[in-house]
Amino acid sequence: MQINKEERIFLIGYMGAGKTTIGEQLAERLEYNFLDMDYMIEEKIQQSVSQIFSELGEEKFRQLERECLEKIATERNVVVATGGGAPCFYDNMEQMNACGLTVYLNLSPEELQERLELSHKNKRPLLAQRQGEELLNFIRKNLSEREPFYRKAALVVSGTDEEMFQQILSFLSSHS
Ligand code: S3P
Repeated sequence: MQINKEERIFLIGYMGAGKTTIGEQLAERLEYNFLDMDYMIEEKIQQSVSQIFSELGEEKFRQLERECLEKIATERNVVVATGGGAPCFYDNMEQMNACGLTVYLNLSPEELQERLELSHKNKRPLLAQRQGEELLNFIRKNLSEREPFYRKAALVVSGTDEEMFQQILSFLSSHS
């Protein structure tokens, strides 16, 4: 069976990179469904991501993420905002590359810090309580560990949300 990889578009990248914002915009433009992995997991077990981390532990969260990806692999015409850590566990990156188009939203630690200071950091257990220089240093270190996974994406985009959105659209139009 020929897989049309563009039936599933996975937006990957660090927390705060714009996966949800750009994902919603892209889904609307392509007339695809928008899926947010964190939201799917929360709905499934009726607990927030923060509760899952504190009550069940990160390992359990990563298992739930994996199960969620397996479910998404059976969906069609979807744009997926993945959790920032999802590409870095199990062979999730290989799985996403096998069944869809992966797009890395590549922002610098400084850009991410600026965006994250303004966002709901407390919803993100790995970042809660961190700010300023401490937040920036954490992002630098954590991002450098994650980059090798993110870099396996089929497409890498950067810039403002609008620029990244346009880069994705132009890739899709040149590959259709
Ligand atoms: C995480 C990112 C979060 C969420 C969880 C862990 C991570 O998703 O899955 O807090 O490990 O980077 P967002 O990238 O949507 O914030």
